[in-house]
Amino acid sequence: MDEGVLMGCAVAAMDDGQPALLADAAIAVLDGRIAWTGPRAELPGPFARLPREDLGGRLVTPGLIDCHTHVVHGGQRAGEFAARLQGTSYAEIARQGGGILSTVRATRGAGEARLVELALPRVDALIREGVCTIEIKSGYGLDHETELAMLRAARAISRLRPIEVRTSFLGLHARPPEGGEYLRDVCLPALRAAHAEGLVDAVDAFCETIAFTPEEVELLFAEARALGLPVKIHAEQLSNQGGAALAARHGALSADHLEYLDAAGVAAMARAGTVAVLLPGAFYTLRETQAPPVEALRSARVPMAVATDCNPGSSPMTSLLLAMNMTCTLFGLTTEEALAGVTRHAARALGLADRGRIAPGLRADLCIWDVEDPAELAYRIGFNPLYRRIRA
Ligand code: NIG
Ligand code: FE
Repeated sequence: MDEGVLMGCAVAAMDDGQPALLADAAIAVLDGRIAWTGPRAELPGPFARLPREDLGGRLVTPGLIDCHTHVVHGGQRAGEFAARLQGTSYAEIARQGGGILSTVRATRGAGEARLVELALPRVDALIREGVCTIEIKSGYGLDHETELAMLRAARAISRLRPIEVRTSFLGLHARPPEGGEYLRDVCLPALRAAHAEGLVDAVDAFCETIAFTPEEVELLFAEARALGLPVKIHAEQLSNQGGAALAARHGALSADHLEYLDAAGVAAMARAGTVAVLLPGAFYTLRETQAPPVEALRSARVPMAVATDCNPGSSPMTSLLLAMNMTCTLFGLTTEEALAGVTRHAARALGLADRGRIAPGLRADLCIWDVEDPAELAYRIGFNPLYRRIRA
């Protein structure tokens, strides 16, 4: 929508100084930006000439943002799902050469065009639920060519579908099967090349006993900063390696997973303004029993985002609404926190100040929902009440 006024709606602006829900509201849009929002009766005169649409009391929220996904990948891992049901752990499967490496083999074999083709149905599912911005990571290539092919595929998606894509170079995801000095000889040169091609919006790493050490992550982050790129991290998912605190020291946009985050990690994130990205799909799929320290994050005022982590291993999930539901049921977020997690805090996890809230000057990325109460978005399971998605 380029210009017009949405009338007769309930607005959950997700903005400071705005009520959690404003009934009988209006939103004026000009040049693809939000020009004004407030009580319908107070709509300023100049906006009255714009085309208007009555929404019959429907709810309007900011367009949703999925701030952590691996939607670009080859293959599937249903066999590992079956193995885990028989008692084999995620870490054991990884050590046996399955897990991430199994997806690396499938991704290397796919080629860029096929990677796009495979990702589109997953992206379409997210769009149908109102996602307007998606983050997509590399990390299933682990060689120069395939890491770049994944990022090119991610960029191609934004040309083929009405969605904005933010890319993260996840060069440190797993050690490649061919061995060698991977970080020095493959990962860092691939990052430089991908950056030179304009393919990288942020740099990510998996800090874990089955992945990379804090020292290795530190080297990647140093290079990211030399290139002027922001960093984020997969940390404290299976054990506490101090990854979140390390990332916070590098001014990370976000630290993600965080089941094993300790008090020092929470404090470091609070100091740095690093967003905690909660990924309940991975917690659920791996039948993890330790939940992230939500109460500590909340008291320290660390913003909490919520994402699908859509990937073929630990979170084969393409529903951000389900992720909202799961963060409430499994992690104890309130329904308001879950909505903030897929809007304003998700925007911040991507370093985007122009979206995630309904406020003058921001992009007119909006979702119109057929619900009476914003809490319904997190409360239903497997039902999509999206009426319409509007993009700037
Ligand atoms: O976010 N934690 C590491 N990476 C992905 C999973 C990767 C996989 O199992 O394929 C995640 O959960
Ligand atoms: Fe992930």
